[in-house]
Amino acid sequence: MADESARRRATPGWYAGGIDHVWLPYTQMKTAPPPVPVVRTHGSRIVLADGRELIDGIASWWTACHGYNHPHIRQAVERQLAVLPHVMFGGLAHEEALRLARRLVAMLPRPLTRVFFSDSGSVAVEVALKMALQYWLNAGVRGKVRFVAFKGAYHGDTLGAMAVSDLDAGMHAAFSGVLPRHFRIDLPRDAASAAALETLLARHADEIAAIIVEPLVQGAGGMRFHEEEVLRRLRALADRHGLLLICDEIFTGFGRTGTMFACEAAGIVPDIVTLSKALTGGTLPLAATVASDRVFRAFWSDDPAKALMHGPTYMANALACAAANASLDLFAQEARLRQVAAIAAQMERELGLCRGLPDVRDVRVRGAVGVVELAEIRDLDALRARFLELGVFVRPIENVIYLTPAFTITPDELGRLTEAVVAVVRERG
Ligand SMILES: Cc1ncc(COP(=O)(O)O)c(C=O)c1O
Repeated sequence: MADESARRRATPGWYAGGIDHVWLPYTQMKTAPPPVPVVRTHGSRIVLADGRELIDGIASWWTACHGYNHPHIRQAVERQLAVLPHVMFGGLAHEEALRLARRLVAMLPRPLTRVFFSDSGSVAVEVALKMALQYWLNAGVRGKVRFVAFKGAYHGDTLGAMAVSDLDAGMHAAFSGVLPRHFRIDLPRDAASAAALETLLARHADEIAAIIVEPLVQGAGGMRFHEEEVLRRLRALADRHGLLLICDEIFTGFGRTGTMFACEAAGIVPDIVTLSKALTGGTLPLAATVASDRVFRAFWSDDPAKALMHGPTYMANALACAAANASLDLFAQEARLRQVAAIAAQMERELGLCRGLPDVRDVRVRGAVGVVELAEIRDLDALRARFLELGVFVRPIENVIYLTPAFTITPDELGRLTEAVVAVVRERG
């Protein structure tokens, strides 16, 4: 009780004055507990207004891969702010965007060579879908207006991205009747599901523009993993049926699954790839849709109608591009992928303690993604609150408790996260 009143005293004026005027994400505003006021971040720590410091298990929706407030990124953004915070990207170009485009292309497999910048993951997906549709139109092929998407997928919250997400199981189910209808099928994990996909493509390839997949990990749809072989099958099927393949690496890109990009682990090259999240190291919003030469060439014409008519106002924002360039410096200078491997090994050991506990369906780790899947979570809010009491920020989704920490997290901090997860799972049993 004393604790509670101290907490109330520590509620800052800006919080009390503003909280009734914001509409929060994925939140039933009437019943959800209010968000906790944050005043500072550093490394893998979130500092609350009442002085508590939480260890962060989520890296702000998987963005802050170098931890918060990394001095190298901060300095790059400060330098850029003094010189050129933003200019429109129509008719004007600036160094940070062009440098970033060149570096992304150098990191991605050939022939992914053209970067279209935008400002959020969902928009990057919209651009990818639009590129794929127009690719066929520009080539004079009519009727290829649908996509193949997968059960368990999540590609964002805008209408086009929702339409290729899993509408049956996911949070967008209520919209299934009003969105364009695409083909939704199981990932080809085994012979039977591969045959089902093959049959679908054989029947409908002339209606299909592209296959869209989150490579190796379906993120927000439940942190479900699949093998590299699935991606190789998709690449082969797309080629056989003359379809484009879009890899949505918004979650997996920049080391999260153990290689810089997930498609790299499978040795496949998509026709279009989407990036965002960790692109700026969690500092500023930025996204990219990167197309292959083949896709780009379909837009290269004397005919203005064949241009890609898209251009978000803040695309290629100079501050965000400076942050992204600084983030790429860190990947080049510091041993991030080795850190990811160490995180994977520690999570495997420590989350492994949940195996066999009551209610635990699966424990799985891939790179810096650690998952404890439960049979069900009846009260998500209560579970989230329990993690706060234990001094960690962990936000289970549906029936899944997961950790996606910064790659720079210390073994001690990670140990406190895994301890909290094991404790919470034990308490339930
Ligand atoms: C794979 C994937 N695609 C797209 C998105 C949408 O990104 P944003 O939230 O930046 O719009 C997300 C976000 O979680 C994602 O995980």
